[in-house]
Amino acid sequence: MANPVPSACCVVFAAVVMVYAQKHSQLDTHVQYERLGTDVTMQCGAMDWDAAVTWTVNGTDIDESHLNGSRLVLRNVELTHSGQYACYEGSSWHLKYQTYLKVGTSPKEPVLMCRSNNYPKGFYCSWHLPSPTYIPNAFNITVMHGPRDLVCEKDAFPKNRCHIRYLQLFSTVKYKVTLTVTNALGRNATTITFDEFAIVKPDPPENVVAKPVSNNPRRLEVRWQNPSSWPDPESFPLKFFLRYRPLILDQWQHVSDLSIAFTEGQVVGGVVVLYRHKPAASSYLL
Ligand SMILES: *[C@@H]1O[C@H](CO)[C@@H](O)[C@H](O)[C@H]1NC(C)=O
Ligand SMILES: *[C@@H]1O[C@H](CO)[C@@H](O)[C@H](O)[C@H]1NC(C)=O
Ligand SMILES: *[C@@H]1O[C@H](CO)[C@@H](O)[C@H](O)[C@H]1NC(C)=O
Ligand SMILES: *[C@@H]1O[C@H](CO)[C@@H](O)[C@H](O)[C@H]1NC(C)=O
Repeated sequence: MANPVPSACCVVFAAVVMVYAQKHSQLDTHVQYERLGTDVTMQCGAMDWDAAVTWTVNGTDIDESHLNGSRLVLRNVELTHSGQYACYEGSSWHLKYQTYLKVGTSPKEPVLMCRSNNYPKGFYCSWHLPSPTYIPNAFNITVMHGPRDLVCEKDAFPKNRCHIRYLQLFSTVKYKVTLTVTNALGRNATTITFDEFAIVKPDPPENVVAKPVSNNPRRLEVRWQNPSSWPDPESFPLKFFLRYRPLILDQWQHVSDLSIAFTEGQVVGGVVVLYRHKPAASSYLL
């Protein structure tokens, strides 16, 4: 009886040679990007229009109703049409063409925002797209201060953010930030212009605590701290406003004259004692 091992070996060897040949032919898979909702026609390499061919997607045969001669026609492509397409010669099953189809959209105008929560150190800009494109996008941001080009250093996290150091304080020259987004199907851009002060917005106060004052049902004690992101509260003190409302009332009460307690040059927080309007109301929304 013949030993079955050598023939199995040969089949494996032949398969390896075929894969190797395919990998090193001109048929390296390229990525083809197409717009959502368009009709896509693919040619089977250099095959004639009337040649017999078989198309596959993700390794599964495609029904002949999608063919026009040897060409594959995909109408009104959707996201689910993305995938690995290949075309084989009918009789020999030689691979004649392959491509990775990715369906997506060109980018809409990006949303760009700049803010300084650590004035006077600098500011950051962050961006996002109003709707997904389903394909990779590249963003390019340029920051100008008058004629000067400033470096916007990319943050590791989040990825859609970069930060800029103020080189000059109290400048009356405007900043101009342009963001360009590009992908394989198109590009879009947005520009914003602003003054140094217009984008200053501190983070919220931290560790806000409200508690009743013992032995005094008409009073409420509220404590808070400066946001830790604010680098120099002594030179650039923050002003706090407090808004509260007894649950039984509809109207908010405002307290704007809040003083801050300092200990050894460090802000430890603010304390305000509120007078309750009605002894009956024991809960407050802050
Ligand atoms: C096939 O393509 C040709 C030329 O591109 C076109 O004229 C013809 O109408 C198509 N046939 C079908 C059935 O779509
Ligand atoms: C091919 O496979 C990819 C990833 O597995 C899938 O997203 C896509 O929808 C498939 N394409 C088709 C046409 O089945
Ligand atoms: C940029 O996006 C807007 C919508 O956000 C769109 O109307 C416009 O056509 C896009 N521009 C380009 C060049 O694609
Ligand atoms: C970003 O845009 C600027 C100005 O338009 C250009 O000089 C620069 O080469 C672009 N950078 C990249 C990475 O595309």
